[in-house]
Amino acid sequence: MINYFDPRSDIDLGTPERVNDVQVSLVIDGRSISVPGGTSVMRAAALLGTSIPKLCATDSLEAFGSCRMCMVEIDGMRGYPASCTTPVSEGMVVRTQTPRLADLRRNVMELYISDHPLDCLTCSANGNCELQTVAGQVGLREVRYGYDGANHLSEQKDVSNPYFDYEPSKCIVCNRCVRACEEIQGTFALTIIGRGFDSRVAAAGGDDFLSSECVSCGACVQACPTATLSEKSLVQLGQPERAVITTCAYCGVGCSFRAEMKGEQLVRMVPDKNGGANHGHACVKGRFAWGYATHPDRITKPMIRKRLEDPWQEVSWDEAVTYAASEFRRIQLKYGRDSIGGITSSRCTNEEAYLVQKLVRTAFGNNNVDTCARVCHSPTGYGLKQTLGESAGTQSFDSVMQADVVLVIGANPTDAHPVFGSQLKRRLRQGARLIVIDPRRIDLVDSPHARAELHLQLRPGTNVAMLNALAHVIVTEGLLAQHFIDARCETEDFARWRDFVAQPDNAPEVLGPVCGVPAEQIRAAARLYATGGNAAIYYGLGVTEHSQGSTAVMGIANLAMATGNIGREGVGVNPLRGQNNVQGSCDMGSFPHELPGYRHISNESVRAEFEQAWGVTLQPDPGLRIPNMFEAALDGSFKALYCQGEDIAQSDPNTQHVTAALLAMECVVVQDIFLNETAKFAHVFLPGSSFLEKDGTFTNAERRISRVRKVMEPLAGKADWEATVALAGALGNPMQYRHPSEIMDEIARLTPTFRRVSYAELDRHGSLQWPCNDAAPDGTPTMHIDQFVRGKGRFMLTGYVPTDEKVNSRYPLLLTTGRILSQYNVGAQTRRTDNVAWHDEDRLEIHPSDAESRGISDGDWVGIGSRSGQSVLRARVSGRVAPGVVYTTFHFPESGANVITTDNSDWATNCPEYKVTAVEVAKVFQPSEWQKRYQRFSDEQRRLLKERRQAEAAEVRR
Ligand code: SF4
Ligand code: SF4
Ligand code: SF4
Ligand code: FES
Repeated sequence: MINYFDPRSDIDLGTPERVNDVQVSLVIDGRSISVPGGTSVMRAAALLGTSIPKLCATDSLEAFGSCRMCMVEIDGMRGYPASCTTPVSEGMVVRTQTPRLADLRRNVMELYISDHPLDCLTCSANGNCELQTVAGQVGLREVRYGYDGANHLSEQKDVSNPYFDYEPSKCIVCNRCVRACEEIQGTFALTIIGRGFDSRVAAAGGDDFLSSECVSCGACVQACPTATLSEKSLVQLGQPERAVITTCAYCGVGCSFRAEMKGEQLVRMVPDKNGGANHGHACVKGRFAWGYATHPDRITKPMIRKRLEDPWQEVSWDEAVTYAASEFRRIQLKYGRDSIGGITSSRCTNEEAYLVQKLVRTAFGNNNVDTCARVCHSPTGYGLKQTLGESAGTQSFDSVMQADVVLVIGANPTDAHPVFGSQLKRRLRQGARLIVIDPRRIDLVDSPHARAELHLQLRPGTNVAMLNALAHVIVTEGLLAQHFIDARCETEDFARWRDFVAQPDNAPEVLGPVCGVPAEQIRAAARLYATGGNAAIYYGLGVTEHSQGSTAVMGIANLAMATGNIGREGVGVNPLRGQNNVQGSCDMGSFPHELPGYRHISNESVRAEFEQAWGVTLQPDPGLRIPNMFEAALDGSFKALYCQGEDIAQSDPNTQHVTAALLAMECVVVQDIFLNETAKFAHVFLPGSSFLEKDGTFTNAERRISRVRKVMEPLAGKADWEATVALAGALGNPMQYRHPSEIMDEIARLTPTFRRVSYAELDRHGSLQWPCNDAAPDGTPTMHIDQFVRGKGRFMLTGYVPTDEKVNSRYPLLLTTGRILSQYNVGAQTRRTDNVAWHDEDRLEIHPSDAESRGISDGDWVGIGSRSGQSVLRARVSGRVAPGVVYTTFHFPESGANVITTDNSDWATNCPEYKVTAVEVAKVFQPSEWQKRYQRFSDEQRRLLKERRQAEAAEVRR
C-alpha cells in the first residue's frame, strides 16, 4: 500500500521528461546537475529537490509560460526568464531564490488572489490546492488591491456534468485544463473565450459541460491547480486520507489508478502517473463510473432455490456451497462425469480464473471449462499461435509513439479503448498516417487535428477479402520485405502464400467490389502500409467476431511478416482486447483444450506436471466449449454449470437459444455482484466481489500483469477466489491458499511464461509484461524481436469464404454491432452509474437513404428482425453507416441485440459471428414478442428477489 503523501508516488517535476543522448550540465543555486538536453530549468531544479513556485506548469503538459510565477535569474540573461519555458544550456548558472525574485513572485500572487474567493476553509480543495500552496511558498501576507474592483467572484457554477463541477469564480486562467484536453485527451473540447480580464474557460459545442463535446475523461479536472474543476465526490466527501494503487476493472487497456480513500469510503480514482499503460490518463468509466461497486442492487448474501419459480432463500456461505456441491455430485452421478462444467470470468483476477479452471479439472474431473474470450478474441489466440507462435499482441501501447503508419481494422479505440485512443491521436497529431478499415465512420476517421488518410468502408463480413487484396498489391507491386522474410519466415509456407495472394482473383479490382471499396483505395492503403515506415496494425472484435475471424487474424499476421513490420518498436500486430482481464483469463488455462500458458491438454508431459502439482489425474481430451455446452444442455447431456462473473444470457448470441439451454439445466450456479440476466435462470447465487474488494492481478492487452489491491472488505464477506476455494472444499477437493499471492506463486511454478512473476516482483516493477522468466526477468514489452516464438514465422493461406449470412429480399440489410464510450459491455456496471447521462438506451443507426425508404425518422421505434428473432429499438438516422448497413450497441438487456444475432461462428474457434446478421427494419409501435416475454420473466424474477429482501427486512426487525 502506498501512502497518499508518499512523495515518490506523485511528485510533479513541472515539465515533461526529455529523452536526449546529449547531457547538459548546469549549476542551480550553487549545486551542479546534468540532465538531458531540452530539459527545462524548472525540471532540472525539481530533480535537485528545489521546488520553484509554479501555477501554469505541470509535468504532464508542455510548458505554457503564462503565470510568471516561476521566474528565475540566469547569469548572462536579461530580466527574469520563466524557468518552465527556458531550456537548460551547458554551463548555465541559475538562481531560484533571491530577495528580488521573492518580491516579484509575491506581487504576481497578490494579483491572482485579489480576484479569488478567500473561502479556503470551506473550499473542496482545502489542503490540496496548488494556489494555496504557492501563496504559502511565496510568503503572501496581504493583498493591497482589495476586492472592490472588477472581479469574477459572482460567476455561476456549472454543475451539469454528473461527475465534476466547474466553478469559474475560482479560475486563474492558467490554461492547464485546455491543454490537458488537447494534449492528453485529444478532444479539444475546451477553449479560453474573451481576452485579458474577461478571459474564461468554456466548453465548446454546448451551453454547459454536459451538452458540450467533452467526453468526461477528467484530464482537465486532474490538471486544474485550484478547485475550479473538481470531482463532485471530493466536494461531498472531503479530502482523502490514503491511497492504494490498483487497476481499472473495465477495459483491456488496464489503466493504473490511485484509489483515494477516506476510511473505507472511496473518494475518487486518480489515474496513476506511473501506470505503464496509461501514464496518468483515464476515461470516464475508470475515473468516474465506480459507483456500481456499492450500488444498492449489490447482492451480498448467498441464495438458493430449487426451481426458478420459487422465491430465493437466503442462506449462509456454508449452506450455499454445500448445496451447490451436492447438486453437482448428484448430477454427475446421474448423468455422468461430463454433464457439468464451468465458465471463468474475464472480469475477475488471474488468480480467480486459474482457480475456476483448476476446480473444473480437479473437482469436476473434466475439461468442460471455457471463458468469454470464446465470444470475442478466441480467433486471436488461434490465428496468432498458428502464424507467430504466441496467442497475444506483440507490442506495448507506448510502441505506437514510434509508428509512422497505423492501420486500425475492426476496432473503435476512442470508444472501446479510450486511453489508447488518446495516445494514438497524440501520435497522429505528431504526423503518423492513419488507415481505417471499418464498415462504420468511427470517430478516428475525422477527429480534431487527427484524421484518417484512408477510410476503407467495407461491407461487414469481407475482412478476409480485403486483407487478401491488400496482400495482393504488396506481392505484385514488389513491396515485400524480402530480407526479413528470408531470414525470419518458413520458406515453403511463404512461397505458397505468395503464389496464392498473387492470383488475379485476389486483385483489388476483383475483391474491391466484393468489399464495396474502390480498388484504388485498397491499392493506396497497401502501398502506404508497406512503404510508409514503421507500420502497426491494431484490430478488435470487428476482425474476430466473424465466420472467418481466425482467417482474418492470420491474414493480419501475414501482412506484418510480408512487410517486415514485426519484432521492434512502432510496428506489430496488436489485438485490442475487450475486457479488463480477457488476456489473463486466456493465459490462465480457461479454454477446454489448454492448460495455463496455452499448453495443450493432450500433451502428456504437460499434463503430468499439473497432475503432480494438483494430485489428480487429468482427462487428456478437450472438454466442451460454451456453445457446445448449450447444445449439450438442449440435448439433455449437460445439466449443471458454475458460471463466475459472466452474463451469458445477455452477452452470447441468439439469446433465445442460450436461455433455452439454461432452462434445460438442473443446477445453474451464478457468482456475480448483481442478479444479472443469467442469474435469473440460476438455482444458486454466490455473491461476487468487485475489484475494490480483493487482491489479485489483471493482465491487459499488452500482456501487462498489474496488481489489483483490496481497498475495502468484500461486501459479501468473501472475495471471489475465496468462494471458489469454499466450493472446492465442499466438493471434497480442498485448496489451501491463504492469500492470492500464493495462487500466483503456483501459477508461476507451473507456467513457463510466468516463471518470474510474483507479488514481490510486481511491487518492485509496478507491472510486468509476460513472458517474464529467467530469460526475461524484467518482462517482455516487445515480442518476436530476433525470432518468432514458434521459431520461423509461418504464412498461412487465407482463402476468402463468404459468410452464409447473406442479405436477401426478406432480410436486405446487414446488422453489425459495437460499443460506446460511456457504457461497458452488457452494461451491468455502467448502467448503474451516472454514465446513463450520456447513453441510456441502445439505438439502431441507419443510413438516411435506408431510413427514408422505410418511412423512418430519427427517434422512431423500429422493429428489427433476423432469422433468429425480433426486437424493437429507437432509430438514429446517421451517415456513419453506409447504405445497406445498420449498427447497434448491446449495453441494455431489454434492447435484445443478441436476440437478433445468429449462432453462426468462426470455423476454428466457434467465436460467434456477431458482426454480420442479415436483418430487416421497419417502423413499429409496440415491443416485440420477445421483449414482452422478457419483461414478464424479468418482472417475475424481480418480484422473487423483492420478496426475499422484504423477508430479510422483517427478519432484521424481529
Ligand atoms: S473532461 Fe476530458 S474531454 Fe472533457 S473537457 Fe475535460 S479534458 Fe476535455
Ligand atoms: S479551470 Fe482550472 S485549469 Fe482551467 S484555467 Fe481555470 S484554474 Fe486553470
Ligand atoms: S481506458 Fe479502459 S482501463 Fe483505462 S480507465 Fe478507461 S475503461 Fe479503465
Ligand atoms: S509555471 Fe512557468 S510561467 Fe507558469
